[in-house]
Amino acid sequence: MLMKRLENKTAVITGAATGIGRSTAEVFADKGANVICADVKIEELNETVENIKEQGGIAKAFDLDISKEESVRNFADNIKQEYGTVDVLFNNAGVDQEGGKLHEYPVELFDEIIKVDLRGTFLMSKYVIPLMLDHGGSIINVSSMSGRAADLDRSGYNAAKGGIINLTKAMAIDYAREGIRVNSIAPGTIETPLIDILAGSKEEEDGRAFREAQKWVTPLGRLGKSHEIANVALFLASDESSFVTGEDVLADGGVQAYTWPGKMLLDDSWKDTAE
Ligand SMILES: NC(=O)c1ccc[n+]([C@@H]2O[C@H](COP(=O)([O-])OP(=O)(O)OC[C@H]3O[C@@H](n4cnc5c(N)ncnc54)[C@H](O)[C@@H]3O)[C@@H](O)[C@H]2O)c1
Repeated sequence: MLMKRLENKTAVITGAATGIGRSTAEVFADKGANVICADVKIEELNETVENIKEQGGIAKAFDLDISKEESVRNFADNIKQEYGTVDVLFNNAGVDQEGGKLHEYPVELFDEIIKVDLRGTFLMSKYVIPLMLDHGGSIINVSSMSGRAADLDRSGYNAAKGGIINLTKAMAIDYAREGIRVNSIAPGTIETPLIDILAGSKEEEDGRAFREAQKWVTPLGRLGKSHEIANVALFLASDESSFVTGEDVLADGGVQAYTWPGKMLLDDSWKDTAE
């Protein structure tokens, strides 16, 4: 019988309660992985796990705050006792919020975003890597197109995600000889609850205007969907990417392929193709 792409693999997924993390948990489970789902939002996390089980997959929910060292250490101890080893770590949990221009940007917000997004990725890796050292594995961090270029009013997020891209390279070099590959994915704008928080929901005027503007500046003419990032994660988690390490894979619908979008914005026939 044909092996599924992640058969016999144990995968840890942070931020699995909603959005990209939930989709990735579903895709990994569908491909045969034993999925360890972690998040601070327990109700939604349990829904993720129930959905997977209903589809015949294997998953379990863990209450975990990636920004707290104690919480991460306890989590890793529990995983060691229950599962022994880990093959895949998807460092996906993250937060984002606008804070104004840098001189107005609240220090507390800067600290919070760095603490969850950058330091959380570091902490999770620090405590889960020992469960991979004997047999190798694949770590996938989530950066952002906002880690490669910058946005108005979001210096904390830009700094955290830029940091993740180079942290990924540092980890790839540190563990290459142990057979642990480390890559990151840089999503463009993906329709998830994070966008509702950042820009407003589809029901709100601001949220609708944001999505409309986003479509115009995206060559593929639409926002991304969370399963489209999950499928990139699947490639990086599986042995099909066995010679890929230290790479940041951009999945942004073409936004960063531009020099500038001028002609596309003036061309109404192109605008008509946006979803
Ligand atoms: N949606 C986008 O457009 C987009 C673009 C680029 C990058 N990203 C990144 O993708 C990742 C997933 O985001 P999403 O869009 O699916 O958003 P989301 O809000 O749906 O999911 C993020 C999840 O992380 C969890 N989380 C937050 N803080 C946590 C903590 N301290 N400990 C444990 N879990 C925590 C949340 O509870 C939530 O379930 C994030 O790292 C985000 O920065 C998203």
